[in-house]
This record gives sequence, structure tokens and C-alpha cells, in this order.
Amino acid sequence: MGLDMARRKLIAGNWKMNGLQSARKQVQDLITLQGGEMLAKLDVLLCPPATLLADMVRDAGASGLHMGGQDCHAEDHGAHTGDIAASMLKDCGAAYVIVGHSERRADHGESSAEVKAKAEAALAAGLIAIVCVGETLHEREAGQAFSVVGGQVKGSVPDGATAENCVLAYEPVWAIGTGKVATTDDIAAMHGHIRELLDALGGTALVDARVLYGGSVKPGNASDIFALDNVDGGLIGGASLKAADFSAIIDATNGR
Ligand code: PGA
Repeated sequence: MGLDMARRKLIAGNWKMNGLQSARKQVQDLITLQGGEMLAKLDVLLCPPATLLADMVRDAGASGLHMGGQDCHAEDHGAHTGDIAASMLKDCGAAYVIVGHSERRADHGESSAEVKAKAEAALAAGLIAIVCVGETLHEREAGQAFSVVGGQVKGSVPDGATAENCVLAYEPVWAIGTGKVATTDDIAAMHGHIRELLDALGGTALVDARVLYGGSVKPGNASDIFALDNVDGGLIGGASLKAADFSAIIDATNGR
């Protein structure tokens, strides 16, 4: 990322455990809706289930639309039944991988140390790591949001992270899939905090690292969120499943 490309907006869709072969149609629909123009101005990414990844890389073709994985193992290969190595994602055309999503942290008990190891595997494979952090409602109500997220950032950001190979995603757990969105003041405050932490952690290497917001981002609220100073795009779950909604969220960046 040269200076002119610094903090180029990234709109990332996380399909989670959704999508059969029939869902691949969304890729063509999205390309038709957005065309080459959006893909020249900002980075757009879809992270489908691993079963669709290689097919969707082919579907995206030369459109500029990026594909990514939703998780990877910390090891490069070996006896880990059911897991996927970062190099395998890279091999089938992924450019990014999400690590440390709160659903992985909760459902699979992933610690920040494990997330960091996964992110380091992603970097070693030549992928861009999207490192997710976020507090639960209980932690926010107990006044611990900043300390929890701070601990996750310090514990999960990989060694060797730069603005080119690492993206942060702040996703308050209570806002994911619930329709509840953090207020713009809360988002601005947390993103400012994360940016200070990144400066302290990575110095100049992370000054221009992108920090995404995620949690119930929809076409109707996206432009207010994306207009905030330290918000460099979004990680979109439910609203990324339909090309029309995802396209409207991309439009909400106004090409900034
Ligand atoms: P949501 O999910 O947009 O459905 O709230 C966001 C995420 O978990 O990445």
C-alpha cells in the first residue's frame, strides 16, 4: 500500500456457515451491480464457506472482487482433521482470512494467543489477516469494553504485522446478528482506542492499518458508520448474503 493507497476502504462480507452452490449466483449479481468502478476505488471481499471458496474465486475472475477464508489453522500442514491451513486458502486463490471472529473465540474457545498464531500463519502464507476483537454485553456493562478489547488487540495482532498484511475488525459481540448497532460515539471511541494501541504496538508499520467495524451493519446505517474518522470499512455478516444489500453497503462508502 503506497501512501496514496493508505487506508483504502475495505468492505468485507462474512458468509459464516451459509451458502450452497446456488449461492454462488451472488458473485455475478454483485459484479453486475457494482462493475469495475467500485473495485477500482476500494477493496471488496467475500469470505464464503471453504466449500465454495475455490469456485467463487473462479466466479470472481478478473473483476477485482477478492475472496477470503473465515478461519485457518496455526500450523502449515499435518494431522488436524477438519482444519484448513492458510497455505491451502492461498492455494485456491484467497487473498484474506478472518481470524479470531467472536464466534470462533466463543464456540471453539480460541484464546488471543491462538488467534495470534493463526494470524502469523496467515502472514507466512501471504494472506492478509483480518483480526477480530470485541467485547460481550456483560463486559461492556461492567465498564470493561476498553480493557477487554485492548487485551485482545495486544494479544492477537501478529508479529510482523503491517498496514499491508493486517486489518483489525472491531465487532462488539452484542451487536453481531442482533440488529443492535453500537452508537456512532461508541464506535468512534473504540476505533480511536484501537488506533492508539496499534500505534503503540507496531509504530509506523501499523499507522495506516485499517480498522473495520462489524455488527449489524445494514444498508440503512452503513453511511453514518463509514463516515467516522477511524472507521476504514466494515465486516458484514447477514447483509453480505444478498448481493443487493451488500452492494448498497458498498455504495454507502461513497467511494471514499
Ligand atoms: P452481522 O455479523 O453483520 O450479521 O451482525 C457481523 C460479523 O459477525 O462479522
